Amino acid sequence: MILSLLPASAIRPRLSILALAVVMPAVAFAESAPPAASDPTAAGKAVFAKANCVGCHKWHGNGGGGYGGDALSLRKTQLTREQIIDTVGCGRPGTGMPFFTRGAYDEIKCHDMNRQDLGAQMPPEGGTFLRQKDIEAVADYVLAHVKGAGEPTYAQCVDFFSSSSRVCDIYRPRDEKPEATASTGKSQ
Ligand code: HEC
Repeated sequence: MILSLLPASAIRPRLSILALAVVMPAVAFAESAPPAASDPTAAGKAVFAKANCVGCHKWHGNGGGGYGGDALSLRKTQLTREQIIDTVGCGRPGTGMPFFTRGAYDEIKCHDMNRQDLGAQMPPEGGTFLRQKDIEAVADYVLAHVKGAGEPTYAQCVDFFSSSSRVCDIYRPRDEKPEATASTGKSQ
């Protein structure tokens, strides 16, 4: 409606700049992306996705309503490495946080309790079981990239998905000027 008040010549360049704004971040990222292997927490990030931590805690770790109830924010967590490892392995009794160690509360002791002791407080079983090494890896990923990371940013989102996923559009800064984006198109 506002556009219709402008002469056509004012509209067209605007629209093409907007189109560029959608395409350019993907290009810029592809050029600057470091090889995944250079990040020692890449394995933990893979576990975060594979074990579906993202399903409940979301890519950013802030959680929100999921099928396991309100997952706590891993960005705001105060837990230490040991406590994160324990929480992932044993889950959290009485909540929707699943356990990821095979045999937890059976042949593997968790907080010196078994299924019988926990009764209805027994946490759900993770959709996949993780080896201790994977649990440590995902804890290290959380410590390096999630805990204390503040509010999710567009850059973090693009980094997580290794591309400019549409999921990330909502994190794009509101004041981002089309002109500023267009200037990155100088390589064309
Ligand atoms: C089915 C949903 C679900 C999945 C899958 C899940 N979580 Fe959780 N998680 C929760 C919920 C719900 C809580 C909150 C528990 C509470 O209320 O104390 C939680 C809590 C946590 C906490 C404790 C945070 C704190 O500050 O106390 C950590 C750490 C955690 N999750 C890590 C993970 C990791 C890592 C994975 C993947 C291996 C994962 N979670 C998978 C639902 C889930």
